[in-house]
Amino acid sequence: MSQYEVQNFAVIGAGNMGSGIAQKIATEGFPVLLVDLDDDKVENGLQTIRTLLEQGVERKIFRPQQAEAILGRIEGTSDWQRLADVDMVIEAVFEDLDVKRLVFQRLSDVTRADCILATNTSSFFVREVAEVTPNPERVLGLHYFFHPAKNRLVEVIAHDGTDPAAYAAAWAAQEALGKTPIDSADAPGFVVNRYFVPWLNEAVRLLEEGVADIATIDWAAKKAFDIGMGPFELMNVTGVPIAMHAATTLGHQLHPFYLPAARLQEQVNVHQVNWDLSGDADQSKYDQIADRLLGVVFYIAAQLVDEGVSTVEDSDIGARVGLRWSQGPFQLINQVGAARARLLAEAITTRWELPLPKLLADAGDAGIPIHLVALGDRPPLKSVWINRPDAMNALNPAVTDQLASALDMALAEAEHGVVLGGSGKAFIAGADIKFFVDHLRADTFAQIQEFTERGQQLLGRIGAATQPVVARVQGLALGGGAETALACDWIVASPKASLGFPETGIGIYPGLGGTQRLPRRIGLPLAKYLVYSGQILGARQAQQIGLVDEVVPFGDLDAACATAAQRGKAPARSAPVTCAHADWQPLWDFFEQYSVDQILSGEADPCGVTVLEKAVKKMGHKSYNALKQAERLFDEGAALQLDAALKLELRDLAEVFAHADALEGLSALIEGRRPSFQSPALT
Ligand SMILES: NC(=O)c1ccc[n+]([C@@H]2O[C@H](COP(=O)([O-])OP(=O)(O)OC[C@H]3O[C@@H](n4cnc5c(N)ncnc54)[C@H](O)[C@@H]3O)[C@@H](O)[C@H]2O)c1
Repeated sequence: MSQYEVQNFAVIGAGNMGSGIAQKIATEGFPVLLVDLDDDKVENGLQTIRTLLEQGVERKIFRPQQAEAILGRIEGTSDWQRLADVDMVIEAVFEDLDVKRLVFQRLSDVTRADCILATNTSSFFVREVAEVTPNPERVLGLHYFFHPAKNRLVEVIAHDGTDPAAYAAAWAAQEALGKTPIDSADAPGFVVNRYFVPWLNEAVRLLEEGVADIATIDWAAKKAFDIGMGPFELMNVTGVPIAMHAATTLGHQLHPFYLPAARLQEQVNVHQVNWDLSGDADQSKYDQIADRLLGVVFYIAAQLVDEGVSTVEDSDIGARVGLRWSQGPFQLINQVGAARARLLAEAITTRWELPLPKLLADAGDAGIPIHLVALGDRPPLKSVWINRPDAMNALNPAVTDQLASALDMALAEAEHGVVLGGSGKAFIAGADIKFFVDHLRADTFAQIQEFTERGQQLLGRIGAATQPVVARVQGLALGGGAETALACDWIVASPKASLGFPETGIGIYPGLGGTQRLPRRIGLPLAKYLVYSGQILGARQAQQIGLVDEVVPFGDLDAACATAAQRGKAPARSAPVTCAHADWQPLWDFFEQYSVDQILSGEADPCGVTVLEKAVKKMGHKSYNALKQAERLFDEGAALQLDAALKLELRDLAEVFAHADALEGLSALIEGRRPSFQSPALT
């Protein structure tokens, strides 16, 4: 177990960022102290949170009791002695180095030696803050994005002296808070602001040079980057002076290219107003504007990788999660083509006498490889990580193929086993529904069949491997995600994990082993219950019935996965014939006794047992066709060896996808509406 275990938090500074960070921590169920200079300032921060929560209740995001519980977990104080028992402190005071340093000196005195100290600075080096403390090894950066209760991105920054164990614990704590962490070196602007601020600045340069007016530049930027707000509108929302200050800092730390445009300085210092966004766009200027803005982003993103500040993948995740761009810089590079991307970046570097980044100079026709799955080490295990947090790590053909090759490599190299995980909030939220819908609409079902077959082969390789594979389920594992976990030897989950099989609610059945591996793990009746009802289980419930092997706090997940791997390969499982837990006995008996038709026709009487009544009600909303097909697979497969049983799921795939309920259910999910399935013809 790590010496740094994070179960509670404190936030210093109850301003815009601090209050939002505290709100998020409490929303995720953790206690947090909110600290400021005096009680009035603390009260201001608490009031900001109360107002936001009230709005959340009005908009039905929270129930009143939830909002109250969230507030109950936040304690405001100006008494620093209260920090003596805190596991992690996040500092969000004014962006003033002297103030931050004083805060860190004081924190060193009042906190425990194993308390992690994080700064949310946006413009200083983390080391500049850490160096004034007697124990810089527990200091690191956590750079959040506004609004921190809503924006999931956080950059995690180690300075040269940060203890890797403190870094790992801080990272795990962010995951526990539902954040999407990306790694950044301790460098100016970290990752996202390093290209975002110059992107804003370049928009002002275009205005200054008379290339186009504000309305045209915003329009072209929105079109080129497929975003909702252009750079000028964004500056109006987040504060024009903030853009100028950020550019000034980057310019001083890096190169005059980053310094604010004269027109930006004039807007802040002379006009002191927001930008005037009015007017119609002149669409003839599109190429000129798009090329410049893309060129800036391409240059900087590639430069960040050259410098080792970030990776291709993290830069893209940063843009998609933090800025809500639909594509990251490297996806955009590959979309326009490496040769053209190089030209656009070169137009910037030539003008500013900067070297062209090697990554762009060397990029071939195939573009820059983007790894959706990362192969790495989580000692003593090899790790295979799905790195698509903005898409909840959903499985599509590209992910599945990369997963297969990463897994092969990991299994070939591993000495003690492999841990399979996902970044962000989800382990794997399921299969990519849009992929299914697109192919059903295009009448290219063969692609769905092939994808499913390859998925089954991939999961089959896990079972056939000589090394153990452990699923590290830190969040959502639905459908194909839960099936991937089931194919692993052991499933280690965090208390926030949830597992379920929602397929029958979208007109299909689980096709990656859900109808076969699940009954072999938890018993046929409970497997039927989960697949027919789509009920999603929390980690502890899943553990009760043996769906999950172990549940441990976030900070202990890696250690628990290593321990699980020490047990070696899991033995071949045959379905248990008795119920694992007394609480589940009524469900076991009911689904053991009754068929889908008996349940839906009302012949099966839930006898007033709430959990049974709920299950029956849920089944009423599912696709009857999908329920019947799942039932057939369960019953036929139960008599077969696993390999033969799994083939049944492939055999019937065309039939379930050809039924109208499949397109209806899948489309309804994408469109965010309730599906309208064909009714059962029950007598
Ligand atoms: N606003 C953003 O979009 C954003 C984004 C990322 C990071 N940041 C960084 O977050 C930090 C906070 O920014 P903000 O916008 O919330 O500022 P803010 O001015 O809204 O809040 C700062 C708070 O810190 C308190 N404070 C000041 N000195 C203190 C001290 N010694 N002890 C305790 N409290 C003290 C102030 O009373 C105030 O309530 C800055 O470092 C900023 O650069 C801001």
